[in-house]
Amino acid sequence: MSKTPENIFPVFDSILGRGAKETLLHQKAVVIWFTGLSGSGKTTIAIGLEKALNNKGILTQVLDGDNIRAGINNNLGFSDEDRKENIRRIAEVSKLFLNCGVVTINCFVSPTNEIRQQAKTIIGENDFLEVFINTPLEVCEQRDVKGLYKKARAGEIKDFTGINAPFEAPTNPFLDVKTENKTVEQSVNEILSKVLPLIQSR
Ligand code: ADX
Repeated sequence: MSKTPENIFPVFDSILGRGAKETLLHQKAVVIWFTGLSGSGKTTIAIGLEKALNNKGILTQVLDGDNIRAGINNNLGFSDEDRKENIRRIAEVSKLFLNCGVVTINCFVSPTNEIRQQAKTIIGENDFLEVFINTPLEVCEQRDVKGLYKKARAGEIKDFTGINAPFEAPTNPFLDVKTENKTVEQSVNEILSKVLPLIQSR
């Protein structure tokens, strides 16, 4: 994690704490971190999960790669360095939500163990739930909802994850959701049943 710059004095102890906010919201905050290939279904499943959680009275925020890259991270590309900076900023933003008691559902390719470890370190191990949206490359490429795999195969996009840039499957995720033969609802329910007890009882 980066160290505090010179002449900067962050104040934390006099700010109303996370516990007070969690009490107000009647929930425990956590960051649910989806990792997986482009087109694996991260955002679709996150939207379903958010609805399901909201139906249970849980306050949530979805953060998603395409949206974040259109706004706060619109100066970043897909080099290793830019992806690291992308994830660093997102992890810091997630921490702000966490300290507000909000359950954050993050949808980022976050392709390497190193990059996900960086996020985990910033957010804190106990508050970081890594969920692998495990959809095979062939299936993502077949769907090609955004037409990006076609472009990558044609050489129009360099450094495209899964085609000419690496994707490392997580080695020990909180949850490995194999989506291929499941409906969105089934994937959502699989995640919901594992995260809800943590949100409601921690
Ligand atoms: S990450 O690797 O830095 O975590 P992020 O999740 O923010 O990626 O953005 C991924 C999204 O950007 C993809 O779903 C896709 O729509 C788009 N994209 C554009 N170019 C690339 C690329 N070279 N590699 C991966 N995704 C890309």
